[in-house]
Amino acid sequence: MEARREGFGSRTAVILAMAGSAIGLGNIWRFPYVAGEHGGAVFVLAYVLATVLVSLPVFVAEVIVGRRSRTNAKDSFSVLTGGKPFWKAVGFLPVFIPLLIASYYSVIGGWSIEFLIQALKLAFINTTPEASTEIFTSFIARPWLPVVLHLLFFLLCAFIVSRGVKNGIERFSKITLPVLFVLIVLISVYSLTLPGSKEGVAYLFKPDFSKLSPKTFAYALGQSFYSLSLGMGAIITYGSYIRREENIMISSAGTAVSDLLFAMLAGLAIMPAVFAADIEPGAGPGLIFQSLPYIFSKMGIQAPVLSAVAAILFFFTIIIAAMTSLISLIEVGTACFVEKFGLSRPAAVSIITLLCGSAGVLCSLSFGPLSGITVADKNIFDIFDWSASNVLLLLMSLLVVIFVGFVMKKRDVRDEFTNGGAFGGNVRMFDLIYFLIKWVAPVAVLLIFISNFII
Ligand code: TRP
Repeated sequence: MEARREGFGSRTAVILAMAGSAIGLGNIWRFPYVAGEHGGAVFVLAYVLATVLVSLPVFVAEVIVGRRSRTNAKDSFSVLTGGKPFWKAVGFLPVFIPLLIASYYSVIGGWSIEFLIQALKLAFINTTPEASTEIFTSFIARPWLPVVLHLLFFLLCAFIVSRGVKNGIERFSKITLPVLFVLIVLISVYSLTLPGSKEGVAYLFKPDFSKLSPKTFAYALGQSFYSLSLGMGAIITYGSYIRREENIMISSAGTAVSDLLFAMLAGLAIMPAVFAADIEPGAGPGLIFQSLPYIFSKMGIQAPVLSAVAAILFFFTIIIAAMTSLISLIEVGTACFVEKFGLSRPAAVSIITLLCGSAGVLCSLSFGPLSGITVADKNIFDIFDWSASNVLLLLMSLLVVIFVGFVMKKRDVRDEFTNGGAFGGNVRMFDLIYFLIKWVAPVAVLLIFISNFII
């Protein structure tokens, strides 16, 4: 443990840093496709409910563990329990999960590189909407290119981590994130003008309750945890940097709201175009890569320059957002390898690159040559994603809320949440949030966790 930990300078800095970790491919790539696969509006409803009733309490719980222990995710439980073996062992979970996610996250990073290249070649402008939707299908069928781009993306991030220069890119992302925000607003406004787009809006916001199933909740909760970077110790680590005088509730709610906003906007940008282009909403992980070229090619007919600039900036900013997320995923594993096994930073990063790089190759190939390998209708990519998002993130989050609700003293939790009673609003809110952390979140997560295996 470090003798003195640096703190975030201000409340805005806290929210920006946590939102930077949260906002990424999870909102823009994963949310629209998972919503499309699980019933649209019923999923969106379940997702918002899950975020408010379960994820926000879990978020607060992670921040409390981090700020109270003043240390990283791996050691925090151990520090707070005086080294109890069970909680020491729990500390290993947040090391393993990020590596699992990093493997397939990088594949989508590779896809984004290809689309940036296509945007630079103006491939979406000089084409018909019909032909542009082909760009994805022909790309994914190529045996080598997606694999090579995945490895390139991973190596780039791994290099930045091994050199310890990630601060540069994180500072850079403070500029690109607002640009991405403006672009998504622009794209969604445009997308809403496409003929047939109304159906997409209805699909997202008009619930068809016949589509509701326990699976909807399982995927909604998994998506919510994934999107907020919960259940793998990232927020515990951020929490440890939050200064004593900061208001935990405001930082947590601020992050959750901005993350939710990004996801909704991404849905509004993608879903109307999906319907306008007659793409199947449940098309899977390729959904945004199939519908965006259509948007840009349509836009290109009326305003070629705007469309070209929007496409290039969009894929560029997405790549930066994905890089900051992948970098922090690699960072968690690296820190552990260095501390536990006494490896040098470059050695630790090399091992992680070897492990995740090869696992990612399998994920990438599962859209092509290895698509025949499936378990319960899931290809290798889906299995990685499912075991992380639907199983392990839930397991870790369950342990965190049990820890804060049952292992930590209520007095300490209240003290941390209200800053020793200094924040009146938090004092009044405490009983509610404590109830959510202690009872609502564990019961909901447990039920949803079990439902994954029996339905
Ligand atoms: N939340 C990120 C996204 O939406 C992905 C992510 C999950 C993440 N867990 C993380 C990023 C931990 C950094 C650290 O894309």
